[in-house]
Amino acid sequence: MAKAGKRLTQLDEWQALVDHQSGLQHTHMRELFTKDPQRFRHFFSEAAGLSLDYSKNLITQESMTLLMDLARRCRVPERIEAMFQGEAVNTSEQRPALHVALRSQSDEAVQVDGRDIMPEVRDTLARMEEFVWRVRSTQWRGFSNKPFTDVVSIGIGGSFLGPKLVSAALKPYWHGQINCHYVANIDGSHITEVLRHINPETTLFLIQSKSFHTQETLENTKVAREWFLHNGGSEDQIGKHFVAVTAKPQAAIDFGIAEQNIFPMWDWVGGRYSLWSAIGLPTALTIGMENFRALLAGAYAMDRHFREAPLEQNLPVILALLGVWYNNFWGADAHAILPYDHYLRGLPAHLQQLDMESNGKCVTNAGDPVDYQTGPIIWGGAGANGQHAYHQLLHQGTCLSPADFIIPLRTHNPVANHHAILFANCLSQTQALMQGKTEAEARAELEAQGRSPADVERLARHKVIPGNKPSNTLLFERATPRTVGALIALYEHKTYVQGVIWDVDSFDQWGVELGKQLGEDILQRLLGKTADGEVSDSSTAGLIELFRNRHHNGH
Ligand code: F6P
Repeated sequence: MAKAGKRLTQLDEWQALVDHQSGLQHTHMRELFTKDPQRFRHFFSEAAGLSLDYSKNLITQESMTLLMDLARRCRVPERIEAMFQGEAVNTSEQRPALHVALRSQSDEAVQVDGRDIMPEVRDTLARMEEFVWRVRSTQWRGFSNKPFTDVVSIGIGGSFLGPKLVSAALKPYWHGQINCHYVANIDGSHITEVLRHINPETTLFLIQSKSFHTQETLENTKVAREWFLHNGGSEDQIGKHFVAVTAKPQAAIDFGIAEQNIFPMWDWVGGRYSLWSAIGLPTALTIGMENFRALLAGAYAMDRHFREAPLEQNLPVILALLGVWYNNFWGADAHAILPYDHYLRGLPAHLQQLDMESNGKCVTNAGDPVDYQTGPIIWGGAGANGQHAYHQLLHQGTCLSPADFIIPLRTHNPVANHHAILFANCLSQTQALMQGKTEAEARAELEAQGRSPADVERLARHKVIPGNKPSNTLLFERATPRTVGALIALYEHKTYVQGVIWDVDSFDQWGVELGKQLGEDILQRLLGKTADGEVSDSSTAGLIELFRNRHHNGH
């Protein structure tokens, strides 16, 4: 946003960080820990049931001060308030981004176009509550009067990843009788594999699409409906088995969904921020509405912290600034999300969409090209599995990817010493990344093992681990609805703060449109239908030809 006409990279605050980085780049984190025995305490913050240790970062107190200066210069506090106040923070689409309203627990009105949206939010929650109760108490039954055993959510992107993450994260809270499945991909194998294991008499389909225009979702819904009709269901029973969540109710009605089975969505909620809305229904059906409300309450606790805490203690702001620090001043272009919690294994996939679809932009809010890096590549997976796969690159590879290690203090499933071992693995990784191993240490280790001088000479340099690799450790008591809500909200707000600093619109996604447009034309050609003109490049033309040949040959 407006920085008195100056480009971001020309700001004094930016330049101060450039200078500071060059002064710090030869300092090893080991030294920083030696110099300050209280470093853990100095770089530790807590909120909404989450604790963040960010001491294993390439920072000093001065780094944080300079980063906070940049945040203030970019008007982060004002922009946070602007989002909560319903200003059009989605600049290209000229609308607010009010996912925070979906979990608000206060009486405060939230205005969109001069209208308080909170009554609609509360009404929808009440409708969800009633629906969830009717299904879970077996009042709402399938066409043969059997209670539902399976819920199939059909949706993609934000209408899939968020609810899927939360359903899996809160598996210990599942109602024993209702199983939840997700179908997203247009790859027919996905829906085939789900339908193979369920019974139409006891299956409820939730069609999840904000636009009700997404090809993958609509095509999968057609398949589900046909399957239902060919396996005992009839047209007049569709109303018992198909429910939709959408911001375009007429499109859903035209598609054949009964009007009373449609839950609303709104333009002011972005797809990747929608798990808190009725898009969360698959989750609510499996964990119950009480737990779903606790999820919202956890997110709300993080919202309050984000809105009220000073920047210096503000968890989303700290994480965002550390990301900016590495992305823009240390040349990192990746960031790892490493949950050491089986239930949170879907977190990297959700945060990929959240972060990369939000901040993967190359023009500013005003439409000017940026001359700095924006969103990093988000990747990751569950620990400790990753230690036996990609952590090697983190330890000795040449690219810098800061990492968030996320771990509960207690487990839902105390099995032997597993949790202590898991915890030890997590801590040893962050410690190894930070301290590394010097050549002298590698040599001493080899000598202590009784290796020959030739072996020591040959191996020592391979065993050197540079260390100085940054990580955050995020802890919470246990993966409960509240902590999971707070955790996801934390990353939503981190993403927004980075968007504010980079001056990009974190709430649009024009980049995904081109593929959709071109896909229409290619599909027509693959199906042998007429399409206008020639394919403009020989690669795409050749690949279309290959597909067509296979299909002519009956494969
Ligand atoms: O493919 C991008 C996208 O537009 C996402 O932003 C969105 O979450 C997803 O498609 C699904 O959209 P819808 O909910 O409208 O079907």
